[in-house]
Amino acid sequence: MRIVVIGATSGIAEQCCRLWAVEGADFVLMARDTAKAEKIAADLEVRGARSATLARAEFADPSAIKAFADATVAAGPVDIVLIAHGWMPLEQHKLDLATAEQVLQVNAVSPVLFAEAFAGPFVQAGRGTIAIIGSVAGDVTRRTNYLYGASKALLTRYAQGLDHRLVGTGVKVVLIKPGPTDTAMTTHMKQAGQRLATAEDVARATVDAIRRGTPVVYAPRLWQLIMLIVRHLPRPILNRLPI
Ligand SMILES: NC(=O)c1ccc[n+]([C@@H]2O[C@H](COP(=O)([O-])OP(=O)(O)OC[C@H]3O[C@@H](n4cnc5c(N)ncnc54)[C@H](OP(=O)(O)O)[C@@H]3O)[C@@H](O)[C@H]2O)c1
Repeated sequence: MRIVVIGATSGIAEQCCRLWAVEGADFVLMARDTAKAEKIAADLEVRGARSATLARAEFADPSAIKAFADATVAAGPVDIVLIAHGWMPLEQHKLDLATAEQVLQVNAVSPVLFAEAFAGPFVQAGRGTIAIIGSVAGDVTRRTNYLYGASKALLTRYAQGLDHRLVGTGVKVVLIKPGPTDTAMTTHMKQAGQRLATAEDVARATVDAIRRGTPVVYAPRLWQLIMLIVRHLPRPILNRLPI
């Protein structure tokens, strides 16, 4: 099994890789923090990975992303690309426009470019799974993180259309929507005493969904019910909630 991980230093992605490592997977890891990614690669090999190599970090340049996807698939069949990078700055109403643009770039534009770049070679090969980590935040956007939430909402609609495009090609699309999860991204929530899922639990649900080819999965599953309710709250009630 050959797996490409974009944003390989993500807490959730790392736990997914640990599960795949025991199956003897080959990894291609892309992360902006090379030192951290090297440690993760070495750890995965100790845990049973057949190989874990680092790719040059290219998160924004469309032609570099395309070249990376083409070269990676040309080097050998890819079973899974897990697109995991994301960034949730605090107090998003205070961000200047350049930073707001970065939020949209990192959480929406860049993941879509990676998925698009792999979709073509995967269709040619007639196989492969494109797994994208979205968020429950994309189901209902709210004042505290509406730029991040809007980016994740874009991923939800994008994954729906990509799934439709790929019907009958042998290529699968899996969108994972985690609820609040204990990783570096949520340190502030943990400090505030908020209940968080473990990255291990979310990773298990993610790896399972990818194995089954489930188009959309909430992790933990309870969030499917929670978001069903929240999505149907009337605006006057939703807008009074301290969320
Ligand atoms: N944790 C949650 O509660 C939660 C809930 C729903 C969805 N998610 C989503 O789950 C995915 C994984 O997040 P996580 O929880 O595992 O958080 P994490 O441990 O903080 O990982 C975030 C990843 O994104 C990378 N990243 C951040 N900004 C970047 C940038 N400008 N360019 C390139 N890479 C960048 C980080 O790289 P560095 O290591 O270099 O910082 C890291 O690899 C994200 O898409 C996130 O939005 C998380």
